Amino acid sequence: MFRIGPLEPVAPVVLAPMAGVTNAPFRAMCREFAPGLIYVNEMVMASALVNGNAKTQRMITFADGESPRSLQLYGSDPVTMGEAVRRLCDADRVDHIDLNFGCPAAKVTRKGGGAAVPAKPRLLRSILRAAVGAAAPYGVPVTAKFRMGLTDDLLTFRLTGRIAVEEGVAAIALHARTAEQHYAGAADWAAIGELKDAVAEIPVLGNGDIWEAADALAMMRATGCDGVVIGRGCLGRPWLFADLVAVLNGLAPAPTPLLGQVVETMARHARLLAGHLGENLAMRDFRKHTAWYLTGYPVGGEVRRRFSNVSTLAELDDLIAALDPTLAVVPGGERIRRGHTNGPIRVALPAGYLDDPDDATPPDDADVMALSGG
Ligand SMILES: Cc1cc2nc3c(=O)[nH]c(=O)nc-3n(C[C@H](O)[C@H](O)[C@H](O)COP(=O)(O)O)c2cc1C
Repeated sequence: MFRIGPLEPVAPVVLAPMAGVTNAPFRAMCREFAPGLIYVNEMVMASALVNGNAKTQRMITFADGESPRSLQLYGSDPVTMGEAVRRLCDADRVDHIDLNFGCPAAKVTRKGGGAAVPAKPRLLRSILRAAVGAAAPYGVPVTAKFRMGLTDDLLTFRLTGRIAVEEGVAAIALHARTAEQHYAGAADWAAIGELKDAVAEIPVLGNGDIWEAADALAMMRATGCDGVVIGRGCLGRPWLFADLVAVLNGLAPAPTPLLGQVVETMARHARLLAGHLGENLAMRDFRKHTAWYLTGYPVGGEVRRRFSNVSTLAELDDLIAALDPTLAVVPGGERIRRGHTNGPIRVALPAGYLDDPDDATPPDDADVMALSGG
């Protein structure tokens, strides 16, 4: 039985935290198709939680009855991290906390945060210790998600995994790319196997390039990993989670839906988001989702453009009504990349950052308030 601490999801499948995407409405759509999995909220700054701001409070919204309530925190200061975790647990706001050590955004790594932290193993250890120590009295499991390292010459994932075990982390997830690689090229699944070999004590989850349910099986077989983390593959395709549960139980995935079913899901998602953010803000935010839902369906550029400018729910309904619901996805349409695809990037680091890996001084990242994830 797959478990993360006390959590026992129905299958070893986790929704990857995605900033600006995996909010309560998005998770509700996924849960509709596959209840009982772990769906992680978008990343929240530990310092924003401690200093309190209204936007952060909205970001940590969970649906009534959502279980488990899973949240990713970003932070590079052990004291702030410990305090954020303690507050969340003490107020009974979460059932699971994931820590982000993979964010490659220049704004973050330039200060020594995110994907830069594992290059300073002592700092990494103290952040993990603070989080696990704060969560332990409440029985809340802490997990960690990280990349292979900063660059091919600076691979830190095995050491990060060992430190995570030593500090009492309940499971680890590897996005099998370096920070430098960003989102380009193929994820290096061999690294997931190497991490699994290095860490036998806790579940090792593999992440990167699972576009269809069969890819999850292929990854688990190729690497021996205990479970999978799904990012871009579910953008505009929340039913992927149902396919994953089916396939991991030896069943066939459902056929890819026709456009009519897709836009019916799209319309419900938009309404949930409008309830969450208010229609105005929600519809602006929803524009990216329309592009993802339509990916692979030959609706034409003009239709896509109209969806990408949608401003109201009524307008969305009109656009949907004009579509041919019998349209099928193009062959291979499920695998068309969506979300981030760019890279490589030049990893920005503080001057002299790599000179002293034993330095455990927390980076000053207090001004890093708007991030783009991991
Ligand atoms: C829009 C977007 C936002 C992301 N935000 C985060 C984040 O907040 N935290 C994180 O750990 N990873 C974040 N990621 C990375 C994903 O969690 C995942 O590791 C990555 O997309 C690779 O998995 P995939 O190939 O299944 O997409 C983000 C990715 C995307 C596309």
